[in-house]
Amino acid sequence: VALVAVALLILGILPVSRAATCPWVGSSDPLEAKVSAVVDQMTTAEKFHMVHGSLTDPAGIVGPVYAGLIPAIPRLCIPQLGFLDGPVGVGDGLTGATQLPAPVLLASTWDEAAATAFGDVLGAEVDGKGANVALSPALDIVRDPRAGRSFEGFGEDPHLTSRLGVAQTKAIQARGIIAQPKHYAVYNQETLRDTAADDAVVDERTMHEIYLPPFEAVVTEGGAGSIMCSYSYVNGVHACGHPYLLTQVLKGQWGFDGFVTADWYATPASAGAANAGLDMQMPDDCYFGPALEEALVENRFAEARLDDMVSRILRSTFEAGLFERVQTGLPSDVVTTAAHATVARSVAAQGMVLLRNEEDVLPLDASWTGTIAIIGAAAKERAITGGGGSSAVLPVPGSVVTPYAGIDEATTATLTYDDGANPVSSALTAQAADVALVFVALKQGEFKDRLTLELFPTDTALIESVTLANPNTVVVLNTGSAVTMPWLHKVAGVLQAWYPGQEYGHAVADVLFGAVNPSGKLPMTFPKQLTQMPTVSPLRWPGVAGSQYSEALAVGYRWYDEKEITPLFPFGFGLSYTRFMVSNLAVTPTVTADSFVSVEADVSNIGSRSGSEIVQLYLSHPAGSGEPPKTLRGFRRVMLEAGQTVRVRFDLGARDLATWDASPLAHRWKAAPGIYGVRVGTSSRDLPLSGTFRLTNTLTPGVATLSAPELPPVSPVDAISDGVMCPKDVIAPFVNGALSLTGFPPLEVLGRPVP
Ligand code: BGC
Repeated sequence: VALVAVALLILGILPVSRAATCPWVGSSDPLEAKVSAVVDQMTTAEKFHMVHGSLTDPAGIVGPVYAGLIPAIPRLCIPQLGFLDGPVGVGDGLTGATQLPAPVLLASTWDEAAATAFGDVLGAEVDGKGANVALSPALDIVRDPRAGRSFEGFGEDPHLTSRLGVAQTKAIQARGIIAQPKHYAVYNQETLRDTAADDAVVDERTMHEIYLPPFEAVVTEGGAGSIMCSYSYVNGVHACGHPYLLTQVLKGQWGFDGFVTADWYATPASAGAANAGLDMQMPDDCYFGPALEEALVENRFAEARLDDMVSRILRSTFEAGLFERVQTGLPSDVVTTAAHATVARSVAAQGMVLLRNEEDVLPLDASWTGTIAIIGAAAKERAITGGGGSSAVLPVPGSVVTPYAGIDEATTATLTYDDGANPVSSALTAQAADVALVFVALKQGEFKDRLTLELFPTDTALIESVTLANPNTVVVLNTGSAVTMPWLHKVAGVLQAWYPGQEYGHAVADVLFGAVNPSGKLPMTFPKQLTQMPTVSPLRWPGVAGSQYSEALAVGYRWYDEKEITPLFPFGFGLSYTRFMVSNLAVTPTVTADSFVSVEADVSNIGSRSGSEIVQLYLSHPAGSGEPPKTLRGFRRVMLEAGQTVRVRFDLGARDLATWDASPLAHRWKAAPGIYGVRVGTSSRDLPLSGTFRLTNTLTPGVATLSAPELPPVSPVDAISDGVMCPKDVIAPFVNGALSLTGFPPLEVLGRPVP
């Protein structure tokens, strides 16, 4: 018995005499008092133990099955920290999880409540697996839709990304899990990632207005306990060793008191990175283990900073309640539930975007008895429910509902099927049916950017031949990002289904047959062709010898507006089975602590079906502000019965009006006096209501930061001076975007499953 007790104690499972040895457990002392009480008891070795991952679990229960692990320190009742991917559900090759829709689809709902429900499932399943840090959400802006990971984030707009990021972060943490939003910062491509050749050369204002706001929001509003820094170099300095980004802005200006973890194998240096503000290396100890201990001895790294790193980790651990809550879940546990699948289905249906619906070809009548031809293997075994890379979730075998199965379940019509391999036979199948549904898919993922925006030529040919054979052709796009559609005007309908997760078939049937009115809106612009995009020049994308972000603020719709380009489908666009109208705009000064002006408008459902609409508010800055023509500053998703009208209200505070003032001695937010424009409507290019208001005084919300110091790159220098060759240095040359998604070697080298 004694032996078992000792063993359990070592494993940190037994709460024996926790109160005696660990007075901070269950204590109502102030947080800071508890944190310092623990730090005071820690040996230097224990402190170092906390600041890096461990590839092998000495207790042998968990093993390297999580993406990252910091084993418990039972002596001090410090719980184990298990880090688990990611933004789409429990990943890292674990089974028994719910495969949620891709975040780009969640973004298309424009619905904070959906992000909350989504985050709740994430938090519950990470907890169920016995892990306690969720590597989620991804807040990277889609600067170019070819970015391999564009499906993992919330699109091209910082405001939309911020609102959904905050909702999701709060929901994850409400489950007692530490959220780790990522990838901080300016991480927009896979090509050459984690090498100095992928250097985002970006000006201070653009950084603060486009790339940083979602991170600021999840810290200041969402209370995120942790942040993951990215593989990017930003203005010559690795993001995980970037004093300006980590120390001045994140911890200084935004007051972040949690911990920063480096993306996996992204730690650029030892003391150099720690001194710059990085708190934790993952998943190994190559830079933050013995090399950092040596730096401490040699006075290149201070014990006070080590204490700060550890305090930050302990603070978030306390705040999540992890000292008190004994987690019993194991990595092998089944954590998916019917309720979680219901969330996956409802989000998936709400986030599909109807792009074209000529002569109301959709919705199909579920009780109709005609013939529907389903064309393309992407309707069956080649359906793509999730993107590739670290976010990939393995759905439970049998849980994936293919489009064919979902449609079959939903309708009384006769279904015919052709796998699309031979366009001639597909055309014949389509011709013999009343309606043809063509499913096409395009896989993308981490490690590799797309080279074009086109579908596979075979899919384009398939669409062309089917629509020629049957004018009632609807194309379902199963892609992670924007694609071009040279065939658009020939088809009757297009539904953007994204990567919808395991409930794909149910959700797509819900929309096709009208059980759910499509109300998704694009979170990114779909260009007519590559040449319309801001990043068409190879200097900007993928960027040579420093990717020039010289389009500056003109990212996404901001570019198309500025250049007066008509894209294929604008940001915020999406059709519906009913019709909506906005009217009666009122712009009223409010001048309270949080609000400077309020904007109200009526939204009416003037069609014959119930449905949701997303009302969008865009702001135009005074002439001479240097801002693009308009920026999204508010949105509301409203559910309306046929004939119903509701009034929506947006409050704009000082920060909503402000732009980043990068001039010397400023380096802060400032709203300049002048006339501001407000436009309200249902897409960035359908804004029938407009008004103005005048700001008479300068407003300066928030605190200033210093300008970014001109620093030489820290990483190579420090790595050399530490005399260590870490896996990162070996792996980085492989992770250059030149590799295909399959057979990618480094993940296998790292002992992680290849999705
Ligand atoms: C990705 C992160 C992920 C981490 C752990 C990295 O490759 O960039 O997003 O959380 O691996 O799996």
